[in-house]
Amino acid sequence: PSLSRMINIQDIEETAKNLLPYKAMTYYASAADDSISHTENSRAFSRFFFHPRVMKAVSGVDPSTLMLGYKSSIPVYISGSALARLGHPLGEVNLTRGAYLTGILQMVSSNTSLSYRQIAVARGSPDQPLFFQLYKHKNDLSAARRIKEVESLGYKAIFLTVDALIPSNRELDTRAPHYLEDYENQGKNIRPTAVNEAVEINTLGTAGGLVASNDTDMTWEKTIPWIRSVTKLPIVIKGIQCVQDAVLAAEAGCEGIVLSNHGGRQLEYSLPPMEVLYKLRNERPDVFTKTEVYIDGGVRRGTDVLKALCLGARMVGLGRAFLFAQSAYGEAGVVHLVRILEREIKFGMASLGVRTVDQLVPDLVERVDWQPL
Ligand code: FNR
Repeated sequence: PSLSRMINIQDIEETAKNLLPYKAMTYYASAADDSISHTENSRAFSRFFFHPRVMKAVSGVDPSTLMLGYKSSIPVYISGSALARLGHPLGEVNLTRGAYLTGILQMVSSNTSLSYRQIAVARGSPDQPLFFQLYKHKNDLSAARRIKEVESLGYKAIFLTVDALIPSNRELDTRAPHYLEDYENQGKNIRPTAVNEAVEINTLGTAGGLVASNDTDMTWEKTIPWIRSVTKLPIVIKGIQCVQDAVLAAEAGCEGIVLSNHGGRQLEYSLPPMEVLYKLRNERPDVFTKTEVYIDGGVRRGTDVLKALCLGARMVGLGRAFLFAQSAYGEAGVVHLVRILEREIKFGMASLGVRTVDQLVPDLVERVDWQPL
């Protein structure tokens, strides 16, 4: 179906799921155990309702904002997700081009299917900011080499992922042919090069091998100062799932945190990030003044984005939606997805009575204690 017939994110996801090879579809769509956290990530947004204000001047609504000081046309970024080439031969380049054409920000996964340099080269201009998602290697030297490499390529921040250091139980993925396990069984260390090779010959099916080299002994005391000793880039912790850890990240001096349960792909029954955001706003509003707070997981509508911003999130990340959009339609799909969100966000802002994102405040939403259909 033509792109113009895709009127919402759901349409794009459905179309892509039907088009994609089985292995790609299952890798992108899969979630932990029974997909409870994955499903609830989206449903959590539906427990929040608006208190729109009327008689406000809302012509010329401006949904732009800053993330770590870098401008984004809408408060949405591309969350780093592995192996974009499983779905489309140009893979991550579609995301980078789409981000450039629409003026949004992109976080690049450690487990890309193109090299970090190829992605940097695909930027529309040398000023286009890219952020880097880091899975820290258990060997400090290897980890430092990777950080320095992306820094020298011009990446602007390190997003340290802390919620997916060990393989999780993704049964949709497990049932698909899993060739990466063949690599593992041969005792090979899975690195992006091996991943590239696997994608090249189109024989990839499970995430298991991607995590083999992760540092599983990270701590606040040791790891954050260590990264600081290697790079001057801002550090964001991706995968904060409770109020206490949000406080610790702020105390550790991190420039940002992403409230995320990895799209429900890791620990089943991890709380939906929107509920963590709500708790954080109520229990520790000071955290929002000490560090930038972002959220990802289950975002499918402009209203979802606006609810998160009302509760203090600065930006909202999407993972699967961008993978599906680029898989089905290449960079045009990425552009179209951003346009859909932009339209929904602008409509929502005007209807709420706000003209700029800093006017989105907690008074504009309430959490209901019943679950809508
Ligand atoms: C991810 N995610 C992810 N996160 C990360 O830090 N490094 C990674 O390499 C990946 N890889 C990855 C692959 C796939 C196929 C998916 C779906 C997700 C998690 C991602 O960044 C983000 O946290 C979630 O995808 C957000 O949830 P939604 O938007 O997919 O619901």
